[in-house]
Amino acid sequence: MLLPILRWPDPRLSQSCAPAVLDADLRSLAKDMLETMYAAPGRGLAAPQVGRLVRMFVMDVGWKTGEPAPMVFVNPELELLGDRILGPEGCLSIPGPVTDVERNDQVRLRWTDLDGGAQDATFDGFAAICIQHEFDHLNGILTLDRLSPEARSVAEAEVLA
Ligand code: NI
Repeated sequence: MLLPILRWPDPRLSQSCAPAVLDADLRSLAKDMLETMYAAPGRGLAAPQVGRLVRMFVMDVGWKTGEPAPMVFVNPELELLGDRILGPEGCLSIPGPVTDVERNDQVRLRWTDLDGGAQDATFDGFAAICIQHEFDHLNGILTLDRLSPEARSVAEAEVLA
């Protein structure tokens, strides 16, 4: 089922999310979020973007292989590794501007999968950036919040135009 994607400045996008409880409802939400992400189209989507304030996001960074590679991260814990880099990011909840955001080029993530298994992996490249972006959503942080006041004003004006 396709879910409506909340758009900034919806206040729900600025809230910190609660731990997710792994049950049938959460599995159903994950499935709907993946469908919604592919339809958008986007490469990542966090639960608060569809109005559910729980700590889960979905991602597919496998487009280079041409095969879908959906991933679901429940209650992720993020560790920043590598070097700081600056790169362009868009967000399905902030249609319009692509803004340069500072991130780490490598991360370690620990999370629970939909079968309840404990997962632990290191990501780099686009996946590392996407994970940091989606993880931010779980803490109510948007790309706009990571810009300088000047860059934020420009980006906000572009969204509201
Ligand atoms: Ni986003």
